[in-house]
Amino acid sequence: MIKVENLVHRYDGDDVPVLRGINLEIKEGEYVAIIGPIGCGKTTLIKHLNALLIPTEGNVWVDGMNTRDTSLAGEIRRRVGMVFQNPDNQIVGMTVEEDVAFGPENLRLPPGEIRRRVTEALEAVGMGSYAQRHPHTLSGGEKRLVTLADILAMNPRYIALDEPTSSLDPAGREMVLTLLRGLNKQGIAMIHVTHNMDEITGADRIIVMEDGRIVLSGTPGEVFSGV
Ligand SMILES: Nc1ncnc2c1ncn2[C@@H]1O[C@H](COP(=O)(O)OP(=O)(O)OP(=O)(O)O)[C@@H](O)[C@H]1O
Ligand SMILES: [Mg+2]
Repeated sequence: MIKVENLVHRYDGDDVPVLRGINLEIKEGEYVAIIGPIGCGKTTLIKHLNALLIPTEGNVWVDGMNTRDTSLAGEIRRRVGMVFQNPDNQIVGMTVEEDVAFGPENLRLPPGEIRRRVTEALEAVGMGSYAQRHPHTLSGGEKRLVTLADILAMNPRYIALDEPTSSLDPAGREMVLTLLRGLNKQGIAMIHVTHNMDEITGADRIIVMEDGRIVLSGTPGEVFSGV
């Protein structure tokens, strides 16, 4: 479980916090969508879920591990994968295969295990035949799938996604959404930030943010009937 308690975040040099007391629990296997206007703090919030940011006040726990404990950051980031808005910033390898191997190599896994994970992760996102491709030759949608493979190779329990379908065409969008639903059915919790309501009608829960706070939280039926 991920537990966010009275989370306040103020960026360095700012007077006012951009997160003003967030309380939230995300259970294993849940599909949680986060929506809200531009600048309300969605990206800032999910960066707290894998210790990319540390609370100004309050606490975030991932499976009981406090993100303030820097010695736990590696394990927290393994459990909570993060798909950023721009996949170009996230792809580091010279080939797709090298890119996906990067995480498992950092875990110092045996070579056979690394190969197995890379193959499985690329198969899982339907990119098995792209292993030798250079990332810069891929389409935007294909790059997103590679960043998902990067994360899957780490055996995550949770994946936080920052507008994972932005700038994709309808086919690419559907491909990514289908994949997310499939991975969720296999038990990986999804935390999905989006501006598109039609993407999240199948979520277990929708969280609506406004100005650094959660203003509404419930099933899609509850949230959409309240709008
Ligand atoms: N690194 C930073 N330093 C200072 N302020 C920041 C930083 N990153 C974001 N902010 C500010 O924090 C507020 C929340 O930003 P955040 O990116 O979390 O919003 P968001 O809900 O993800 O918006 P969007 O829908 O545009 O992606 C904004 O006012 C933004 O300008
Ligand atoms: Mg954002």
